[in-house]
Amino acid sequence: MDRVKGKIALVTGGAMGMGRTHCELLAREGATVILTDREAQAGEAVAAGIRQAGGKAEFIALDVTDERQWQEAVNAIVARHGRIDVLVNNAGIFMAKPLLDTSTEEWDRMFNVNVRGVFFGTRAVVPAMQKAGGGSIINISSIYGIVGAPMACAYQATKGAVRLMSKSCAVDLSPFNIRVNSVHPGVIDTPMTKDLLAQPEFRDAALAMTLTRRPARPEEVSQAVLFLASDESSYVVGAELVVDGGYTAM
Ligand SMILES: NC(=O)c1ccc[n+]([C@@H]2O[C@H](COP(=O)([O-])OP(=O)(O)OC[C@H]3O[C@@H](n4cnc5c(N)ncnc54)[C@H](O)[C@@H]3O)[C@@H](O)[C@H]2O)c1
Repeated sequence: MDRVKGKIALVTGGAMGMGRTHCELLAREGATVILTDREAQAGEAVAAGIRQAGGKAEFIALDVTDERQWQEAVNAIVARHGRIDVLVNNAGIFMAKPLLDTSTEEWDRMFNVNVRGVFFGTRAVVPAMQKAGGGSIINISSIYGIVGAPMACAYQATKGAVRLMSKSCAVDLSPFNIRVNSVHPGVIDTPMTKDLLAQPEFRDAALAMTLTRRPARPEEVSQAVLFLASDESSYVVGAELVVDGGYTAM
């Protein structure tokens, strides 16, 4: 309990999947969670559930690809709470397609959400973190930002970009006591992977690479996010925290 007590934590893509469990765990551990998502109804419902359970959560509609919405969200949070301590750049989209079938529009859409969204978010919160004397930015990359896989060229390119952006931002922002790290989940059971994991050939191939031989529950990744959000990770800067059941160990 109370591992992030009093912190103001902004999470993107908090309406479902891992974003949801990041919000629930951060709130259970004492943070005031600003849950954002482009899906307003689902996001409001998750925030309400957190409040019902005794946690502090507010919903703000935010499409991470919209620079103006980022600025409005940050202004509203600073006006209400005075600062932002934690940003979890979690929102992301996936597409399983071979390179030659990937259209330019699909490539751009993937980069718009997965990379530009992280850039916009980081740039928007840094002034508030600087004023507060520091902060923690947690970027959700993937094992697909570390190793190759079939049918995922556009997605992998975005997650590789997030991996290196995290290190670059860690360097640039360390003078302000802002720590930036990336998290690299493996095969996680969320709405994003539901259809894929229902296909025996995908499931078997993915789990054959995973030493635990099972997908993770989203909560198991949230524990890594909680650690990076908390002061327990005060000396963890520019690191890659892999949460993959051993997928990349072999
Ligand atoms: N599920 C996995 O196996 C897995 C593995 C590695 C990395 N990841 C990454 O983890 C993150 C979360 O994945 P998930 O599996 O929970 O996904 P999910 O599809 O279950 O949930 C994603 C959430 O992001 C929101 N979102 C999508 N685009 C958005 C936008 N433009 N603006 C705001 N919100 C938006 C969705 O509405 C949804 O609530 C993603 O960045 C994903 O790439 C997932």
